[in-house]
Amino acid sequence: MDLAKELASALNCNFIPALTTAFPDGECYTRIDVEKLDDDVIIVQNTFPDSKFIEMLLLQDAVKKLGAKSITLVIPYFGYARQDRVFKPGEPESAKIMCRHLDLDCDRVITVDLHKEATLDNFTHAHKDVKAAPVIAEYFKTKGIDMVISPDIGAAGRAKIVGDCMGLPYDHLEKTRLSGTEVRIKPATADVNGKSVLIVDDMISTGGTIIAATAALKEAGAVKVTVACTHGVFVNNALERFNGSPVDSVLCCNTLSNAVSLISVAGIVADAIKDALAGKW
Ligand code: R5P
Repeated sequence: MDLAKELASALNCNFIPALTTAFPDGECYTRIDVEKLDDDVIIVQNTFPDSKFIEMLLLQDAVKKLGAKSITLVIPYFGYARQDRVFKPGEPESAKIMCRHLDLDCDRVITVDLHKEATLDNFTHAHKDVKAAPVIAEYFKTKGIDMVISPDIGAAGRAKIVGDCMGLPYDHLEKTRLSGTEVRIKPATADVNGKSVLIVDDMISTGGTIIAATAALKEAGAVKVTVACTHGVFVNNALERFNGSPVDSVLCCNTLSNAVSLISVAGIVADAIKDALAGKW
């Protein structure tokens, strides 16, 4: 089910789909077909692909004009989060620019497993990053996993939370990014011999990281490698790359909708919204 619909059901509130199409020249046209919206309004929209970012900006204005009492932006997958600093001179801080613009007409912002939580500090309004680790851990609790591993140190905290929630050991691999599509992963040092390993990461884009991490784990003797990520972006049919790869299975959360987005974050996002509307943050 669509995450926005699922959220509406968890919050027992109305679900109103925006009527979004494109003008003949490709510009975004959107409309909310109601007379007024004089209530607390939650806009659920990813900022990926680019067209969704524009739609989100337009929706904020439409909702405001319809009289919203408060506007909460739920951005399940926040596009541009990975360009959160200037890596090479001449580059923009894309994540910060996205925040500045999204900040325009809202009262609070909720993201899910944002690449770097500190990005949210670029919002002047209240903000919260909801962590998917507990729902991922719950999903895999009964699936015979022996150990939780992240493909790099950046996701080590995520592996720790998932491991702690499952009562399992955790560790991380060492990754070096060679290009947008290529990574190198050092041989695994953790004792994975004969184990069923769960790799956790915030996102899968090309699939390069997960395939290299799985190869390193299998090389070190892991018997089964299952992958769980929050955001399944899967560019250029990346899901198909897993067929015939050493990866045994891949699942992700429903921040983006695809064939393997079976782990729902609706409950944890609904809880964050309830807390916000009750003035708890
Ligand atoms: C990087 O730091 C992220 O956490 C992911 O590991 C990365 O974005 C995955 O990209 P890809 O699937 O293209 O290797």
